[in-house]
Amino acid sequence: MKTILVTGGAGFIGSHTVVELQQSGYDVVIADNLYNSDIEVLDKIEEITGKKPHFIKVDLSKTKECNLVFETYNIDGIINFAAFKAVGESCSMPIEYYKNNMNILLNLLDNMKRRDINYIVHSSSCTVYGEPDSLPIKEESPTKKAESPYGNTKQMAEEVLSFVVQATDINAIALRYFNPIGAHSSAKIGELPRGVPNNLMPFITQTAIGKRKELVVFGDDYPTKDGTCIRDYIHVVDLAKAHIVALNRLFENKNKKPLEFFNIGTGNGFSVLDVIKSFEKTSNTKLNYKIGPRRKGDVIEIWADTSFAEKLLGWKAQKTLDEMTLSAWNWEKALSKK
Ligand code: UD1
Repeated sequence: MKTILVTGGAGFIGSHTVVELQQSGYDVVIADNLYNSDIEVLDKIEEITGKKPHFIKVDLSKTKECNLVFETYNIDGIINFAAFKAVGESCSMPIEYYKNNMNILLNLLDNMKRRDINYIVHSSSCTVYGEPDSLPIKEESPTKKAESPYGNTKQMAEEVLSFVVQATDINAIALRYFNPIGAHSSAKIGELPRGVPNNLMPFITQTAIGKRKELVVFGDDYPTKDGTCIRDYIHVVDLAKAHIVALNRLFENKNKKPLEFFNIGTGNGFSVLDVIKSFEKTSNTKLNYKIGPRRKGDVIEIWADTSFAEKLLGWKAQKTLDEMTLSAWNWEKALSKK
């Protein structure tokens, strides 16, 4: 049985990926500092899979703490989720963002090189593309100047990987996520935003449950079908599954290059109002929302060309927007009962 280190494995995407890994027969070690997650997630993972993952509480941006993980466990491959991820916060705390996100990756790569661990799946983001010139966006599209330090750390991480794979035996796959939303069908794990959510889906569910007064739709004067921004929303379980497929590709040496990039989206663009409508339908509630001004830094529209992931990974997202909004709602309701 292969042992996979999942950094940030107690977080939103991490926890869903741990479930899929365990259900695919992998042994999992979670390394997480619980900065943006809850220790209870480990019990919930066990309730779903029947197995508690190994857990080590460390700050991976600190070299000694990162080394300790590799001294404690024999690791065969890594999935790296650990990072700060709030776009707005990164603009006011750039140094912390660069230090944290880059040091984590460098500490991991350093251990990989020294210990002959050759496989890593890294979480990247469609934010590396900036405002697209043509849609759907393909992996070979040029990346643009980042709008935020957060986005820049995603670009820099891809560049670091591209040089490291040339100089070492390390093989890497960077998955460029579009907009992950939704929650596990058990409603035992899901997104746990710290404070006021920045992202659309948790803001919607928190408004509907009564934690927030109203949702503000950031602009309805964009050149889109209904004036609101378009994104490629993807169910977090579909996204989690893409990591297993990517990891297997590395273990089976099926990768064509030592560093590959894949878009992980559905290939469909939905507007903010589409998401609200889907939510109102699946939750059978009326959402309190109003139209407000545009948010700085938002791209108008972006969705993925997923043909490369389909062809090479043999992976395709399965779940519909309604399944995403319903599962997010079930998770919010489960949280409110606690
Ligand atoms: C953001 C980040 C992206 C990151 C992703 C996941 C930016 C520019 N991009 O994507 O880099 O990978 O989160 O963390 O921030 N919206 C509202 N009202 C709200 C919240 C959002 O109308 O209260 C709209 C936004 O304007 C956008 C859409 O909903 O059109 C999705 O927003 P959000 O969930 O924040 O994701 P992104 O901005 O696409």
